[in-house]
Amino acid sequence: MRAYSLIAPAKINLYLEILGDRPDGYHELVMVMQSIALADQVTVHLNGTDRIQVACEHPEVPLDHTNLAYRAAMLMAECYPEAYQQYGGVDIRIEKHIPVGAGLAGGSTDAAAVLVGLDLIWGLGATEGELQELGARLGSDIPFCVSGGTAIATGRGEALSPLPDLDGLSVVLGKYRSLSVSTPWVYKTYRQQFEQTYIREGDRLQHRRQELQSGAMVTAISQGDRPTIGHLLHNNLEKVVLPAYPAVAALKAAMQACNPLGCMMSGSGPTVFALTETPEQAEQIQVTVREAFPDPDLQLWVTSLSRSGIQMTQL
Ligand code: C5P
Repeated sequence: MRAYSLIAPAKINLYLEILGDRPDGYHELVMVMQSIALADQVTVHLNGTDRIQVACEHPEVPLDHTNLAYRAAMLMAECYPEAYQQYGGVDIRIEKHIPVGAGLAGGSTDAAAVLVGLDLIWGLGATEGELQELGARLGSDIPFCVSGGTAIATGRGEALSPLPDLDGLSVVLGKYRSLSVSTPWVYKTYRQQFEQTYIREGDRLQHRRQELQSGAMVTAISQGDRPTIGHLLHNNLEKVVLPAYPAVAALKAAMQACNPLGCMMSGSGPTVFALTETPEQAEQIQVTVREAFPDPDLQLWVTSLSRSGIQMTQL
């Protein structure tokens, strides 16, 4: 095949706790990651040249080496030089539906789709684990985006253990179109403000990690206990983003006032989401929040949780 089309889902974080610092400058985390149905579409075409080119009509998506999808293709070319020589370069087309700079891993999932797409188009037969290992070199969320579903992530977010699928829940997402938050800024500010809470001793770090891996959120997911999952939603990074962006805090408060199962900021933000039992409840929250905030800059989506990571579709 000369072309593949892939669905690249966004993620939300049902849980994000910062445990401490890492020698590599990143943070030691425990997260519960969840794929959602809101997705980009990524197509990969052999172009008969030695060039790797990215096309995307979204004005905020760069087309050069700063684009993670481009870097994913370059990394594949570097790691599989014979296949690159044999088949040549690719055109990567990204149809963007996931908001940019939103805390939904939009760039990471496009990169994950390129890893999967090049594996297919170059006939490499790499394992999911091998693709995840390559993805981890480019960004902490990429390994999760490859496999998707529901998973607990440790380390800097790249060490994954799958959790049972969470079926049937709906999600409302809200983000101000013109507001993007820099992930490095959020983590840097968190460090400045909360460094004194970081766990420094290896034993205590391991203890806390294990506590969370077998803790109440994981149990609630295993039992499909939706109210408890909603109640236990957590994200340390809210402590930095909500005070800095009152509009995001107000959006969260408005969603919360609609009594969803739970409501939280995703990742480093600024997207906030509410979980509901039914699509109708999610749509009702969308209507209520829209009435409260008629600002056209506010984007709202209703979607559902998804069991999948990168999926191939027919071209
Ligand atoms: O891995 P990724 O490129 O997505 O991370 C973006 C930034 O977020 C990093 O440069 C770092 O500042 C911060 N980060 C962190 N600890 C993590 C993940 C990300 O400090 N575990």
